[in-house]
Amino acid sequence: MPVQNQVRARPDSYHEELRADVRAGLTATPKTLPPKYFYDERGSLLFDEITRLPEYYPTRAETSILHQHAAEIAELSRCESLVELGSGTSTKTGLLLRALLERGTLREFIPLDVDSAVLTDAAETLAAQYPGLWLAPVVGDFEHDLHAVPPGGRRMIAFLGSTIGNLEPSARAGLLGEVASTLGAGDTFLLGTDLVKDVARLLRAYDDAAGVTAEFNRNVLCVVNRELGADFKPDRFDHVALWDPGNEWIEMRLRAVGEQLVTIRDLDLSVRFAAGEELRTEISAKFRRDGLRAELAAAGLETVRFWTDRDGDFGLTLARLAPARRRS
Ligand code: SAH
Ligand code: AVI
Repeated sequence: MPVQNQVRARPDSYHEELRADVRAGLTATPKTLPPKYFYDERGSLLFDEITRLPEYYPTRAETSILHQHAAEIAELSRCESLVELGSGTSTKTGLLLRALLERGTLREFIPLDVDSAVLTDAAETLAAQYPGLWLAPVVGDFEHDLHAVPPGGRRMIAFLGSTIGNLEPSARAGLLGEVASTLGAGDTFLLGTDLVKDVARLLRAYDDAAGVTAEFNRNVLCVVNRELGADFKPDRFDHVALWDPGNEWIEMRLRAVGEQLVTIRDLDLSVRFAAGEELRTEISAKFRRDGLRAELAAAGLETVRFWTDRDGDFGLTLARLAPARRRS
């Protein structure tokens, strides 16, 4: 079966970055931790569980768009190489892989994710489902490691699930710029984005009745405990999800239940939490069609087509380099 061993974009970078990010985030006011550290083996399993929750509509909405339009996307892109950023289980991506294989152009699939465990599982499943497709997984950070993706014919870069919404606007612009700089004249970019909608529905999607999202949120503390010898007591932090109307994003936070002193052994750092103090763990921006088009254009990307699901909950954009960039 043609599955290449996982390539690590920058060996040992994860720990160095984790140390720097945790120190910076926990000594800042207000305190923060970056969302990429949710995703160890347990975090990826919890996210997968989230995608099946009745309240969490984005995965179902994006799947329905792909069901309806995968053949059209395959026809428009005609890619030989599909690169997926933050690929996770790549379950929805199967719809694209199938359509691209039927179109007869696709040769290889390169999933890139920060969690090596989820990549291993995904590669095993995909290898069984798509024999003949060359799989070349990359463990890396989509904000820093696009250069580690090997060149390979006409390419489509897919960034699904609205993971782009977990980046701050400036980081989003940076990532879109990087994507644009890796695209050639015939290449395409497929971007999934959750759309602005009724606030009550949004809040339910990030604070489900079964408490899976709360566990996912607390998992970042488990990761810091394990990786840096910290002594967070995850059950002494309440899950908080709120809507920021100015920024049009959901924020997830962890609220300290009572005053707490947390020691991060490997950083020689002790951090005090006041009772009720909140640690920000994630933003999840929601988009509008015009804003999206403008963000893409600012990065030198032109929207080729925009699809949405029947209820208008989620958007999928196919983009390519803007004409001026295609010529240069
Ligand atoms: N694309 C899938 C998974 C979304 S969950 C879907 O649409 O359902 C977000 C995924 O991005 C996780 O698998 C997580 O491990 C990965 N991820 C988060 N931050 C990342 C980063 N900075 N670089 C690479 N992968 C990242
Ligand atoms: C991966 N990302 C797009 C998810 C989101 O909806 O922002 C992560 C998530 N956070 C809470 N639930 C799901």
